[in-house]
Amino acid sequence: MCGIVGYIGTETASDIIIDTLRRLEYRGYDSAGIVTIDSGQFHLCRAVGKLKQLEAALSACPQNGHIGIGHTRWATHGGVTEANAHPHVADDKVAIVHNGIIENYRQLKDELVAEGCSFASETDSEVLAHLFAQAADNGLTGKDALQHVMARISGAFALAAIFVEEPDTMLVARNASPLAIGMADGVICVASDAAAMAHLTRTVIYLKDGDIGVLRPGSAEIWDKSGMPANRELIVSSASPIMVDKGGYRHFMEKEIHEQPDAIANTLSAMIDGTGRLTAGMSDVDCDRISHIVILAAGTSAYAGEIGRYWIEQLAGIAVTVENASEYRYRHPAIQRDGVAIAISQSGESLDTLMALRYAAEQGLKTYAIVNVEESSIAREVDTVLPTRAGAEIGVASTKAFTAQLTVLLSLAIRLGRHHGRLSDDKAEALTTLLRSVPGAVGQAINQTEQIRPIAAELKRATSCLFLGRGRLYPLALEAALKLKELSYIHAEGFAAGEMKHGPIALIEEGLPVICLVDNDPLSEKTLSNLKEAQARGATIITIASQTISEEIDFADHNIVINDYDPVLSPLIMAVPAQLLAYYTAFEKGTDVDQPRNLAKSVTVE
Ligand code: G6P
Repeated sequence: MCGIVGYIGTETASDIIIDTLRRLEYRGYDSAGIVTIDSGQFHLCRAVGKLKQLEAALSACPQNGHIGIGHTRWATHGGVTEANAHPHVADDKVAIVHNGIIENYRQLKDELVAEGCSFASETDSEVLAHLFAQAADNGLTGKDALQHVMARISGAFALAAIFVEEPDTMLVARNASPLAIGMADGVICVASDAAAMAHLTRTVIYLKDGDIGVLRPGSAEIWDKSGMPANRELIVSSASPIMVDKGGYRHFMEKEIHEQPDAIANTLSAMIDGTGRLTAGMSDVDCDRISHIVILAAGTSAYAGEIGRYWIEQLAGIAVTVENASEYRYRHPAIQRDGVAIAISQSGESLDTLMALRYAAEQGLKTYAIVNVEESSIAREVDTVLPTRAGAEIGVASTKAFTAQLTVLLSLAIRLGRHHGRLSDDKAEALTTLLRSVPGAVGQAINQTEQIRPIAAELKRATSCLFLGRGRLYPLALEAALKLKELSYIHAEGFAAGEMKHGPIALIEEGLPVICLVDNDPLSEKTLSNLKEAQARGATIITIASQTISEEIDFADHNIVINDYDPVLSPLIMAVPAQLLAYYTAFEKGTDVDQPRNLAKSVTVE
């Protein structure tokens, strides 16, 4: 949520910053901006909209400086305007970029205005520029200036500041929002994630919460929150450079849907040890300890957790609760201290999830993370990482990371079921064999897109629709509804099929699309009855079903049929037609598939 970049070196700073911002655009795309220092003055360029608008503005007035900072914004405080775009400059002395929220900005702004500061934006972030200018006026530089500002602000932040009078220095600070420092010969750079600057350097330092730093080419002095020098480890990042290439597909999302067989296979290989045994990344001691699991996640990752709950409870008999990360720590939950917490996050940076995880750790729970970005904040904080190996996911709507998360969760369910004696060795082996078949089955489902496009062409005209499912397909119905609404802006709700009669059925009117995921399992008859009830009231029925059961659904208006599979795998396989339906509906409607309005991929504010 907002990406920040800084660079001091020998190249043209604006070129490097734009290139790095391009790799951070997934963090927000409401506006973008850059400021460099050249010939003793700031050169500021900002533009509303995507980065390409900024690039167009820059081409009209190229910048030559070797130091600069840049920002891509997801608006929090203040509308989407050029004035609210970062960087913010105060008194032609200092420029800042900020990711996060300065929670006490209102009070600080009032004080600064009373002292004569004039604000050019409605943002919380601009107070930082004025506080740094105030520090400079008081003769404070470097660490002293940072401490002056840190003493005043509260909230979440990753920030970078540059000063006209010190064109070889950048000040940085971090609390809760991510920030990595990259080092190379004669160069220093910063970015919200290491992968965004992996094309520049892989030698990085990750700041810890409360750290402040004074950066110059080739050197980084860092202090911890108590003001003591902090010797932060210089690591060689394993982050792969973020690819900004669609590889021949129309959209990153389309590419990522097609990458799912590989993402699942790669993830599965991390769940299996050298002897071919499914360990799910867990030692026997780990498995012994697990008697209750609380899953902490947001958005699509939370729906993966809900599906995981069905698998883990059914196959391993271990109680699971799934919590919206944003609610967990504030509702003072009753903690089962013999349990473990598992965070699920594609980015590893969702602030809600990070904070919930910290709360769980403070309550004494051992922490795990199912995470796609291995050097992310969440991955670095937990006791054990259970990696998804989906590769970089650029499309804002999660697809391959979701099915990779499901792969880990089903592996975990089988592993725990076997360890705790709920599954015999033979049954666990049979399930592992099924799991190995998933990449192939997902590949087949991807190839069955022909049936989906004409349905999407009709669905695009809907203003509202319902998704239904039972059992493991109920949370997938919630995810399918989320996918459709975030991509096509069509109002969509997911319900447990059996719950329709308890209220939601009142929503049905002539032609309302009701999209149902149907499994070939003992409950399917009940689900089909629920569909008949909806149809009797005028709903247009669309089903997504496997071959055998689809033969019983001759009453549906449209039936998307996929090859038969074992029902235990249903969420993994059925995710594909659900994703494709959302993708093609958005495509038919002409919405921005990869960067839907108002969203960001990595949400680092509460
Ligand atoms: C944002 C994204 C969602 C994502 C959620 C959780 O809201 O738009 O697509 O599911 O964050 O992200 P995470 O990186 O923690 O999985």
